[in-house]
Amino acid sequence: MPKSVSPAARIKAPKPLTALNAWKALKDHARQVSSLHLRDLFAADPKRAKRFTVETLGLYFDYSKNRITGKTVDLLLELARESELSSRIDAMFRGDKINVTEGRAVLHVALRAPRNARILVDDKNVVPEVHAVLDRMAAFCDRVRSGKWKGHTGKRIRNVINIGIGGSDLGPVMAYEALKAYSDRRMTFRFVSNVDGTDFAEAVLGLDPAETLFIISSKTFTTLETITNAKSARAWLVKGLGGNEKSVAKHFVAVSTNGPEVAKFGIDTRNMFGFWDWVGGRYSMDSAIGLATMLAIGPENFSEMLHGFHEMDRHFKTAPFERNLPVLLGMLGLWYTDFFGAQTVAVLPYEQYLKRFPAYLQQLTMESNGKHVTLAGKEVNYNTGAIYWGEPGTNGQHSFYQLIHQGTRLIPCDFIGFAKSLNPLGRHHDMLLANVFAQSEALAFGKTLEQVKAEGTPDWLAPHRVFEGNRPSNTILAEELTPNILGKLVALYEHAVFTQGVVWQINSFDQWGVELGKVLAQRIIPELESKQEPALNHDSSTNSLIRRYRKLKGRNQ
Ligand code: F6P
Repeated sequence: MPKSVSPAARIKAPKPLTALNAWKALKDHARQVSSLHLRDLFAADPKRAKRFTVETLGLYFDYSKNRITGKTVDLLLELARESELSSRIDAMFRGDKINVTEGRAVLHVALRAPRNARILVDDKNVVPEVHAVLDRMAAFCDRVRSGKWKGHTGKRIRNVINIGIGGSDLGPVMAYEALKAYSDRRMTFRFVSNVDGTDFAEAVLGLDPAETLFIISSKTFTTLETITNAKSARAWLVKGLGGNEKSVAKHFVAVSTNGPEVAKFGIDTRNMFGFWDWVGGRYSMDSAIGLATMLAIGPENFSEMLHGFHEMDRHFKTAPFERNLPVLLGMLGLWYTDFFGAQTVAVLPYEQYLKRFPAYLQQLTMESNGKHVTLAGKEVNYNTGAIYWGEPGTNGQHSFYQLIHQGTRLIPCDFIGFAKSLNPLGRHHDMLLANVFAQSEALAFGKTLEQVKAEGTPDWLAPHRVFEGNRPSNTILAEELTPNILGKLVALYEHAVFTQGVVWQINSFDQWGVELGKVLAQRIIPELESKQEPALNHDSSTNSLIRRYRKLKGRNQ
C-alpha cells in the first residue's frame, strides 16, 4: 500500500491546466476554428498537405486533414511547453519515480535501450539487467525453435500457449498477429486470457501435450484469471502425459516479477524470465512478456523491433515539438477531446496483420489516461482520456463508418497504411490503399447539397446523400510492416499517451480503477459456489442476480 505521506505532495503543484495561457488562448481559438471547413482551409493553402506532414524514421505522418490552422499547432505546442513536457520527458528517461501513486519509476524506454546505455533506478544502472534477460530469452528461444529443448517425452515443442491477461496478453497477441509473416510457420501459437473456460478449452483443442509449452505471463503472478488458467493448463498437461507431475518442468516457463509466487506455483525459477516493477503491464510487450513474440519471430527480428522502439524513444526525447510525432499525435488528440467534445478516437489500420492493434491500444490509452484526478489528487475540470476503438480496413467501412461520415458525433480517425503488402496478390493492395485515401478524403471534404443535386438527385432524397465533411483524420504511412516499424508505431502511441497525460496533469501509469471489481468478484465467488444458501449483503439488484444464477445452476435449497 502507498505510504500515508503522498509523494505527490512533494511535487511542486503546477498551475491548474485551465489557468495556463495557452489553454485559455486555445479556448478562444477553438471557437474560431470550429466555424472553418477543411474544404476552405485546403482551398486557401495549396501547400497545406506539405505544411502539416512530418516524414521521419520511415513514417509519413500527414495531419493536414485536421481541423487546425498554423495557429492551432502553435498554441497546442505552447500548451505542451507550458505544461513542462520537456522536463517531464527528461524525468521519465532519467528514471525519476514519476508514477507517484505507486512510488515507481516508469522506464519502458530502458527495455529497448542499447547495451551501452546507462539508465539509473535507485542509483543502479538497469540496462545490463535488461540485456541479461534478453540474452537468456534469446538462448531459450533458439533452443526451442531448433528443437534442442525437448518436452518430457523427448518430443520437440511445436505449440506455444501464452497464458496472461491485460498487458501480459494484449501485447504478445497483437505482436504475434502483426508479425505473423516473420514467424516460424511450423509452430502453433495460441493465447489464453479470459477466465471463461472456453478460452482455455479452445486453445488446447487438437494439441498434443507432449509438444506443448505454456508460458505463464503475469507481472504479479497473482492475477485470478491467469493463475486459474495456469492451474487448468497444468492439470491438462499432467493428465495428457500420464499423470506425471515432473512433466511440468519441461512444459512450463514463467514471465514475472514475482519469483516466490512462481516457485509456489511449481515452476522452477530457472525457467523464469524476469522484469521489473518499473515496467507497467501495458508497457511490457518488449520485456520478457514478449517471450511468445520472440519464440515466434526469432531473437533477431525481436531485436529489430526493439530497435524500432528505441529509435522512436530517441526521436521523442530529442526532436523539436514541431516535428515530434508523439507530441503532435498526442496534442491533436487532446485538441478534439478538450476543445471539440470528442469522446472517441477510431484507429483504422489498413493492414490485416494489425487486426489486434486497436485492442492493444485500448489498454495502452484507456488504462493509462482514464483518470479523473490530477497527480495532486484534485478533480479535473476538463476531459481526459478518449475512448479508443477500431477495426482493420476495409471491414469497418461496411460496418461503422456510416456513423463516422454522417452521424452526429465528431470522431477523429487515425488511418494506418503500408505501401507494400506482405502478401502481394493481384490488384488487392492498390484497392486497399485506394480505400484509405478515399475515406480520409470523403471525411474531410464530404459532398455538398449542391453537388448532390447537380447529380440529379431528387430534392427529397438529397439531404440523405449530403456528406457534411470536416471530419478530421491523421494518416500514417510506412513502406512495409516490419518488426522495426511495429516497434516505432507502438512507441509512437506510448509517447502520445504520455504527452497527453502530462498536459492533463494525471498519472498515466497506475490503474486503481480496475481494483474494486476484482475485490468484489473475490467476495462473490464463494457466494456463487457455496452449497448452503449464502447470506447476501449486496444491493437488491446484485443479490437478485446472484440468487437467479444459483437457481439456474440448481444450487438453491
Ligand atoms: O487489472 C489490470 C492489470 O493490472 C493490468 O494493468 C495488467 O496488465 C493486467 O492486470 C495483468 O496483470 P499481471 O501481469 O500482473 O497478471
